[in-house]
Amino acid sequence: MAELRQRAGYQAVLALGRPALDIVSEESITAAALLLRGDGRPLRLVIDATGFLHDQRFGPERTWRQIDPVHMAHAFAVNAIGPALLMKHFLPLLAGEGAAVFATLSARVGSIGDNRLGGWYSYRASKAALNQLVRTASVELGRVNKGAVCVALHPGTVATALSAPFVRSGLEVQTPELAAGRLLDVIAGLGAAQSGGFFDHLGKEVAW
Ligand SMILES: NC(=O)c1ccc[n+]([C@@H]2O[C@H](COP(=O)([O-])OP(=O)(O)OC[C@H]3O[C@@H](n4cnc5c(N)ncnc54)[C@H](OP(=O)(O)O)[C@@H]3O)[C@@H](O)[C@H]2O)c1
Repeated sequence: MAELRQRAGYQAVLALGRPALDIVSEESITAAALLLRGDGRPLRLVIDATGFLHDQRFGPERTWRQIDPVHMAHAFAVNAIGPALLMKHFLPLLAGEGAAVFATLSARVGSIGDNRLGGWYSYRASKAALNQLVRTASVELGRVNKGAVCVALHPGTVATALSAPFVRSGLEVQTPELAAGRLLDVIAGLGAAQSGGFFDHLGKEVAW
């Protein structure tokens, strides 16, 4: 948020999150969208930075023996279905002309082409589903709003609660501020030609 507020060009920057907006509750997403619609100003940029990898109950699976339906359903609810509902209610609010971007934070481990290590079944599969949802929504968005952009972004490894248990030496771990600045630079460089794509924090395309 701080990084976004420092950038010129936005009349207002609004943070939405729990408890008002719970990504697994369509009701709360509808209410947030209604609030924004009521404001009357078109949205120039929507960033979805929600995600789930582990909590007190569940950690990423190391083997198929650890696959648990409740864990997997939660990963899909937060990482794929929730962002799909954001697309449903927020894509129609994007500005019809000029800059209009919807960006959701995916993860490189959601790439099927890049999967050499295995494991992390629920996280990988739910992020792969997210990537497909982004691509699918971008096609529909392009039909109604030619200049608008819908993308999946990989933020790189960032020092947050999500990554903390898994950070290995030799990996570049960014501060959240650095990662946010890099992602905003990538977003600033996006045009309609990039809609439906999957890009990392340095602007490089990631394999599906
Ligand atoms: N950190 C990394 O190294 C890394 C690497 C690759 C991809 N990513 C992706 O980047 C994104 C952000 O990750 P992070 O590292 O910032 O993780 P994090 O510190 O665990 O933050 C996750 C965010 O998601 C929100 N969230 C979770 N469930 C929610 C729900 N039901 N409704 C509304 N908000 C919900 C959390 O809100 P609360 O504050 O309310 O809990 C929190 O703001 C995720 O999509 C993650 O998969 C991160």
